[in-house]
Amino acid sequence: MTIELVHTRGDLAAARKALPGTVAVVMTMGALHEGHRELIRAARRHADHVLVTIFVNPLQFGPGEDFDRYPRTLDSDLAACRAERADLVFAPDRPEMYPGGEPVVRVDPGPLGDVLEGAVRPGHFSGVLTVVCKLFLLTAADVAFFGEKDYQQLALIKRMVRDLEIPVGVRGVPTVREPDGLALSSRNRYLSAEHRQAALVLSRALRAGAERDTAAGALAAAESVLSGVPVDYLALTDPDLGPAPRSGPARLLVAARIGTTRLLDNVPLQLKGV
Ligand code: PAF
Repeated sequence: MTIELVHTRGDLAAARKALPGTVAVVMTMGALHEGHRELIRAARRHADHVLVTIFVNPLQFGPGEDFDRYPRTLDSDLAACRAERADLVFAPDRPEMYPGGEPVVRVDPGPLGDVLEGAVRPGHFSGVLTVVCKLFLLTAADVAFFGEKDYQQLALIKRMVRDLEIPVGVRGVPTVREPDGLALSSRNRYLSAEHRQAALVLSRALRAGAERDTAAGALAAAESVLSGVPVDYLALTDPDLGPAPRSGPARLLVAARIGTTRLLDNVPLQLKGV
């Protein structure tokens, strides 16, 4: 099956116009793995056409982060998009995305952008929301699919769409895991075999937490599995990342460094109170 690859906003607009019916967008930074493929499959189930964007967005990387070494694998990304029967891929370069240089006006994520990932990576979510907002405008998609693996990102995108009345539906897709529990991430390819094994501590901690009924029990169980691991945060929240409830649906989130690689993971859980 043929897939159309466009690099410019003009070609994107023309190709988008030629797609009849509904269009779903899957936004990525490339280095596509099974988690992205699951997003494309979910998008295909919900819309007539699927558009994938591939752009390593410099705005969301801080100084000293991995922007320069972030994997750029366009050929295999296109093969994955083709295999999942996406219709159109938009892969702009930096000047195409930011023709006037880096944008002076950016999306402010508000207080939710300053906690958890935002506390460790200042400015990260402003960079994410700015590019996501631009891509919503450029792609004019009806619906967008994002992974729950980046749970705070998903929550902030939903909030931006609501607060700024962007006419697009936003759907979250559950995290795809390796059989041993490791959450799929483009950054897993940085891990040595030894660190790949050590990284299992994140999903093991979350599983231990999710088996408990109370907020205190969930946190204590996860903490004990993480003992000795350099953790950036371990947090229990409600599903919208507000304070943890005593009972009902909640979210347990963790970020930790394994070697030189920062990994994130999270799971839903159901609290029953004391
Ligand atoms: O999740 C990602 O890959 C990125 O943060 C996104 C949403 C494509 C924005 O650059």
